[in-house]
Amino acid sequence: PAAGDPMILQPRPWSTMLGHPVAFHPYGVPSKYEANLQRRQSPGLTQTAQASVAFAPLQGFFGIITPNGLHFERHHQGWVDIDPDQHRFMINGMVKESKVYTMDDLMRMPSVSRIHFIECGANSGMEWGNAAVPTVQYTHGMLSCCEYTGVPLKVLLDDCGADLKNGKYILAEGNDGSSTTRTISMEAALDDAIVAWGMNGEMLRPENGYPLRLVVPGVQGVSWVKWLRRIEVGDQRWNAMNETSAYVDLMPDGMLRQYTSIQECKSVITSPSGGQVLMGKGYYNVSGLAWSGRGKIKQVDVSFDGGRNWKTARLETPVLDKCLTRFNIDWVWDGSPAILQSRATDSTGFVQPRYGQLHAVRGTRSTYHNNAIQSWQVADTGEVFNVHVE
Ligand code: MTE
Repeated sequence: PAAGDPMILQPRPWSTMLGHPVAFHPYGVPSKYEANLQRRQSPGLTQTAQASVAFAPLQGFFGIITPNGLHFERHHQGWVDIDPDQHRFMINGMVKESKVYTMDDLMRMPSVSRIHFIECGANSGMEWGNAAVPTVQYTHGMLSCCEYTGVPLKVLLDDCGADLKNGKYILAEGNDGSSTTRTISMEAALDDAIVAWGMNGEMLRPENGYPLRLVVPGVQGVSWVKWLRRIEVGDQRWNAMNETSAYVDLMPDGMLRQYTSIQECKSVITSPSGGQVLMGKGYYNVSGLAWSGRGKIKQVDVSFDGGRNWKTARLETPVLDKCLTRFNIDWVWDGSPAILQSRATDSTGFVQPRYGQLHAVRGTRSTYHNNAIQSWQVADTGEVFNVHVE
């Protein structure tokens, strides 16, 4: 406008006043203007908030790191805040010597810090048959990515003299009321699993397992046992509750498939995404996340016409193993209806499937391990909707 924008032309209150003192917030908090960016519960999903999930707001994240206060939460019997001085971690079973460790014992051992994604096996589970929930927070928000610090599990198994010849599996057990237990292959345990206390440079948050959790890169979230108290070495799978009655895949023939733990290659556009409104025709940076439990992301293609034509997106660095990868692509919206999709390929050559391809193999009544291509419909009004495209 000819008069100019007063927001830039006139002195603003904050440029003429004394600011707040240092250490006003001894532990920093986000701006009050960001208060809408929150973990949220999907209404009607579960009857008790202690056995439920709070979804991470993927639409508001940049890059690949999830801020600790917005990491998704999934608990089977509520979260606990354990005094680290009272926490003990035990390794037993097929080992030369069973050992009990304090947090101090663990934290003086050789540690590593690695960035990995965690995705609940039930992420996108509501979406199997049709578009069920409106936003990317609810379709894909059981997903987070952090730098985890801890002792490689291999170091601890060596310390106890684990029988690596006959020991084929480990059992990980949590210290909360749910006593979550999961069988993990010895291969994964020795490869890159971490007994972790650090998350993005600080101690784990209580909701995420403080003071100790298991990190099993590439494997579904339920195996990342929180408030970790025990690991047992064994020669058979334990068939625990969370690997028989839950976290199993209902196949088209009515049988349940067990122990499908790896999170296959998947991606989603986070901006624009369901519930957002475009500001009119013109340029948009279309941005999203891609990941694979089997390795690195090799390529992400984006379609603006419901899967007929594809363009290759830019992968932003770093591109790491079993880690979120950020992709971006230019789009000039002409104002007519469009359907946006992303399709990831990983370093094994695996290509993320369409719903039609997934349904052909897995049926339409499953819950876990839905890695199908997500579609966002942009209406001519600029409103963005979750739609199902086979
Ligand atoms: N570990 C314990 N001890 N208790 C739990 O309820 N939930 C599991 C897993 N580890 C759980 C647990 C599930 S189902 C998932 S998806 C992840 O933790 C979620 O981790 P987060 O809450 O840090 O996101």
